Amino acid sequence: MRVALIFGGRSPEHAVSIVSASSVGRALDRERYEVLPMAIDRRGRWAAPEVSAAVLGAAAARPDEVPAFEGRDAVDPRLLDGSADIAFPVLHGAFGEDGTIQGMFEMLDLAYVGCGVAASAVCMDKGLTKRLIAAAGLPTARWVEIEAPGWRREPGATLERCQTLRFPVFVKPARLGSSVGISKVRAAAKLVEAIDLAFAHDDHVIVEEGIDGREIEVAVLGNENPRASAPGEVVPGHEFYDFSDKYLDDACTLLAPAPLDGEIADRARELAVRSYETLGCAGMARVDLFLERDRGRFLLNEVNTIPGFTPISMFPRLWDISGLAYPRLLDRLIELGWARHEARTKLETSG
Ligand SMILES: Nc1ncnc2c1ncn2[C@@H]1O[C@H](COP(=O)(O)OP(=O)(O)O)[C@@H](O)[C@H]1O
Ligand SMILES: [Mg+2]
Repeated sequence: MRVALIFGGRSPEHAVSIVSASSVGRALDRERYEVLPMAIDRRGRWAAPEVSAAVLGAAAARPDEVPAFEGRDAVDPRLLDGSADIAFPVLHGAFGEDGTIQGMFEMLDLAYVGCGVAASAVCMDKGLTKRLIAAAGLPTARWVEIEAPGWRREPGATLERCQTLRFPVFVKPARLGSSVGISKVRAAAKLVEAIDLAFAHDDHVIVEEGIDGREIEVAVLGNENPRASAPGEVVPGHEFYDFSDKYLDDACTLLAPAPLDGEIADRARELAVRSYETLGCAGMARVDLFLERDRGRFLLNEVNTIPGFTPISMFPRLWDISGLAYPRLLDRLIELGWARHEARTKLETSG
């Protein structure tokens, strides 16, 4: 099977994506797969095959070791001429994790790994995610959504809505990742600054009650009847799990498994699977939860449809401790992408 491994891309997580893809490329079983590396540069242009192969071949172990490169094409021609049997996007953030590239695969009638168009787009948007989760009766922190025009027109009314929330609050761009543009705000007087900062990154912002909780992550895998891994835990090294925690220093600790009693871990896995199903996920997602320190209740924070795949990333580690080693996890993801494509093809021809 010929696997188009797609990485890089137009997001702040460009370099992280390349580190993830390098691990995936190394772990794919060469008896079963021929790997076609496809690198997208920071401006969104796709590199020539030999450049893509060199970027992947550099085998960067850290984001700061990733080589710089220039793309050439609007899209890699090998996706258009039937050279690939399945696409494996290892892209984070906008133009990769948000349904856009998934839409292109659908147009090309190409099987792909991971969530479809709608689930990818919903999970990229923290406001839409919370609306669907709340509508299904699942727990998530109370929040307020703000659109740029409303903020410009009536800032006073918007601030009043925010004051119905319990402080501290978190102000976030709705559709970013890697903690970029996120502030923790302790007092109403600091809200304007935080909201303006978030609006510098997106025209849709959410303000959410801060949860005094542990950060628990669950890896979920499957199309129908998805399965959850053992939960892991992120122990932030800073005030919260911010950009430098994620990528720059080694201050945070990732625990796999999370130190939780069996019954509590089961509750995390159950909320993760119900969230995954509610949001229409397929293939895989990492579901991030808060476990409230006082009440012991789990709340959904967010869902990442293309989680990190570096050797130290939570998603592969959680499956490893749950009995699915990295290369077998990749087999399973490809199988699931293929099965979903087959099922959709059948639907169309019988319609
Ligand atoms: N409501 C909240 N209560 C407490 N901490 C939060 C809250 N929202 C976000 N955080 C902190 O900020 C980090 C990043 O926020 P998150 O919503 O996960 O955005 P991103 O998509 O950038 O990862 C979280 O991992 C957590 O440490
Ligand atoms: Mg997060």
